[in-house]
Amino acid sequence: MSNSIQTIPIRTTPAYEVAIGPGLLGQCGPRLKGLLPLCQVAVITDSTVAPLYLNTVSDSLRSAGFAVSTHVFPAGEAHKSLSTLSDLLESLAAAHLTRGDCVAALGGGVTGDMAGFAAAVYLRGIRCVQLPTTLLSAVDSSVGGKTAIDLTAGKNLAGAFLQPAAVLCDTDCLQSLPADMVADGAAEAIKTGVLSDEGLFSLFEDDALASAPAEVIARCVRYKAGVVERDEREQGERKLLNLGHTVGHAIEKCSNYAIPHGHAVAAGLAVIARAAERLGWTEAPIASRVSACLLANGLPTGTAYSAAALAEAALADKKRSGNTITLVIPRKIGLCSLKKVPVAELLPIISAGLEA
Ligand code: GLY
Repeated sequence: MSNSIQTIPIRTTPAYEVAIGPGLLGQCGPRLKGLLPLCQVAVITDSTVAPLYLNTVSDSLRSAGFAVSTHVFPAGEAHKSLSTLSDLLESLAAAHLTRGDCVAALGGGVTGDMAGFAAAVYLRGIRCVQLPTTLLSAVDSSVGGKTAIDLTAGKNLAGAFLQPAAVLCDTDCLQSLPADMVADGAAEAIKTGVLSDEGLFSLFEDDALASAPAEVIARCVRYKAGVVERDEREQGERKLLNLGHTVGHAIEKCSNYAIPHGHAVAAGLAVIARAAERLGWTEAPIASRVSACLLANGLPTGTAYSAAALAEAALADKKRSGNTITLVIPRKIGLCSLKKVPVAELLPIISAGLEA
C-alpha cells in the first residue's frame, strides 16, 4: 500500500484512524480486512456518487472476502430526512444485516450523516466506516461521530453520536468535484483556520488548496481530532466547531436546503465576524480579511434573508439551551471563544453582522 497515505489517530471511544491519500477507495477491502472481521458491508451512497465510485468500493470489498449489499438514495440535503432514513433502515433489514456487520457511508456530508445515523440505530447500533468523497466530508463531517437527519423544524435535529470504525479519505475523489463543491468544503476548512490555525487560513488566502489538498485535510483532521478527543459529546470545547453554524443553519433552513451547507456556513462566518467586530468583541479587525478570503474561494459573505427570519430559524437550533444560545465568537484569526447570550439578543447580533 502507498506510503503517500497519512494516518491520523482519533483517540475516542472507540479509537480509530483517519487515512488520507490517493487510491484509498480501491484499497478499501484490504484496508478494512485488517480492522473488521469478514462480514457483510452495506455500502450506502447517493445517486451522484454511485455511478462514480460504488463499483470500485464494492469490487474491492468483495475481492477482500466481504459480502456486499448496496443502497442508493436520491442526492441532496432535501433527502436527509426521516423518510429516506426509513427506506435506508428497511434496506439494511432486507439485506439481513446483523450486529456483526457494517455500514459503509460512501459520499459527502449528507451520506455520512444519514448512513452513520442508520448504523447508530439499526439493531441498536452496528459498526460504520466513513468513505468521504467530498472536501467537506473529508475536512469535517466524516470525523468525530456526529450523525443526523434534518427535521422540518431544523437542521440535524435528530441524530446520535457514533464514532466510525475507520475513515478512508481518498484524495483522488477531489479531482472529480465541481468547483462549487470544492468551495463548499473550503468553507469548513477556512472555519478551522479562523478557529485555530492562521497558517491554514493563509493557505486559502494564497489559493494553495489546489496544490496541497491532502495537507489541508490533514491539518483540519488533526485539529478536529484534538477537540473531539477532549470533548467527544460536545459538552464544552467541541461547541467551537460550530463557528458560523448558527446563522449558517438558519440560512440553510430559510432556503429550504437549496443553499449548500458550506456556502451557508461561509455566510454565517462572515456575519458573525462582522458582528463581533462591530460589537467590539474582537481583538483585531478581522471581518474584511475573512470576507476577502471567502470571496477568493468562491463563497458568499452575506445573505438575502432578514435578521428577523434568521433569528426565528435559529431558535430551533441545537445550540440553544432554554433561553440562551451559545455563539462562537472570532477574537482574531486562529482564536475563537464561546459566548452564551440570551435568545432575545440574537436578533440584534445578527442585525449587526449583516452587510450594510
Ligand atoms: N461539525 C462539527 C462537529 O463535528 O462537531
